[in-house]
Amino acid sequence: MVLTESLPLIPLPNSAVPGEGALRLTDATRVHGEPSSARMLVDAMTRRTGMRLEIAPDASGPASGDIVLRVDPAAGAAEGYRLVIADDAEIVGADSAGLAHGVHTLLQLLREDDDGWALRHAVVSDAPRFAYRGVMLDVARRFFPVDEVRTVIDRAAALKFNHLHLHLSDDQGWRIHIDSWPLLSQRSSTASATGDGSLAGGGCYSRADYSEIVAYAASRHITVVPEIDMPGHTHAIGVAYPELVEAPVMNEHLLDDAARLGHALPEAGVPYTGWGVGHSSLRIREERTYDFVRDVLTELAELTPGPYLHIGGDESLGTSAEDFAYFVGRATEIVSSLGKTPVAWHEAGAAPGLASGTVGQFWGALTPEAAHAAQAARFVERGGRLILSPSDAAYLDMKYDEHFPIGQDWAGVIDVQRAYDWEPVTLLDVPASAIAGVEAPLWTETVRSLADAEQLMHPRLAAVAEVAWSAPGPQRSWASFRERLGAQAPAWRADGIRFHPTPEIPWSDR
Ligand code: ACM
Repeated sequence: MVLTESLPLIPLPNSAVPGEGALRLTDATRVHGEPSSARMLVDAMTRRTGMRLEIAPDASGPASGDIVLRVDPAAGAAEGYRLVIADDAEIVGADSAGLAHGVHTLLQLLREDDDGWALRHAVVSDAPRFAYRGVMLDVARRFFPVDEVRTVIDRAAALKFNHLHLHLSDDQGWRIHIDSWPLLSQRSSTASATGDGSLAGGGCYSRADYSEIVAYAASRHITVVPEIDMPGHTHAIGVAYPELVEAPVMNEHLLDDAARLGHALPEAGVPYTGWGVGHSSLRIREERTYDFVRDVLTELAELTPGPYLHIGGDESLGTSAEDFAYFVGRATEIVSSLGKTPVAWHEAGAAPGLASGTVGQFWGALTPEAAHAAQAARFVERGGRLILSPSDAAYLDMKYDEHFPIGQDWAGVIDVQRAYDWEPVTLLDVPASAIAGVEAPLWTETVRSLADAEQLMHPRLAAVAEVAWSAPGPQRSWASFRERLGAQAPAWRADGIRFHPTPEIPWSDR
């Protein structure tokens, strides 16, 4: 690993060597090569500098000072790239995703000085540590319209994330139109987690909306992972189709939370806006339930080009252990039969019939409870891999500190250092090869706007980005990270990112 102290890059590249000078950007600077990355680069530079660089037609050769973008599989591992900024600039991606990652690196080297805008001379060679680098958006507790999801995609892509997990259903709302069960979009999508029974923050994606999100994400080299959370977290389904769900089962936590927060308790068939969990269950022993599951997953598979369908499986406290195991076996088999890879939260590992190859998503603590670790390990025994979302480090909905006005604290308060300082490979007792990667979930009970979401995401999303992308080494340290993070502030402000200006970070003005 080459020292990168003076290059303000996040996530930290494999190797980054600063040069002495800078490549000046002028009205004459042109961008050549792969059109979609060229457009992305030019648009981002315009937002930042006000200058609009010209995209050169294919035939014209680059002149000195130009920027060249190309793909060459010899340039490194999957999603890797090589970037050289000297008298001119060249990014060579090992594939189109690698090229886009290189463009984001180049944008972080853009600086304004007394002579105008310039790119710092540098040679960067880079590729990701983990193949799966995800962000999760809970659109069930609060619905985000398509244009806001596009913004989240742009923010994630800039940090080299490559998966967007959409939590499309929960007790409070169902967010994707299903042709074969049309009442879901009509009746189950009106509520959100307002707490007070009022119907604000609801909504539902049409098939076209969802396809637009998938296509936009693909244009940013991000794969959408849709989740239908089952067999718990299913109250909203019962608002449209009461015959599919059991009556709510109260638990002590739910009763305590409802009393503390002043939220109403769940009532069968009535939209639920509280924050309690664990009260709802699909009817496990009725075949109609599996007609529903198969129809929904079939439509979702048709709309989803990516390899994964997430079936949830967390906090199914209203389902007996035996019924839960039966359900998980059947639901994961349905996903496999559709040619997709099932993904489930780690509790699903308890099911003996878990379909082989199912990917587990671990959301326990950095010091895992033995039962959670054992459930996660079962996915690996069944030939699956793991996505790590430790709730006391990677959960973006926890408060930064106890006084932070939004967010929850049940997993702890998570400052930026806590989001940064953890090691995926030694978290669970599984082989390193079993770790597919890392995901940062944003649950949205306390989120009322995109601005709220951005405050919770930034800057912690950058910390998780580095955990997911950057191999361990001397510069993969909190001391280095906080300096490099502080240097992002001007670009983030120019991009309109409403980040939390935590005093942990030395934010720079220019
Ligand atoms: C979860 O936080 N219930 C996955």
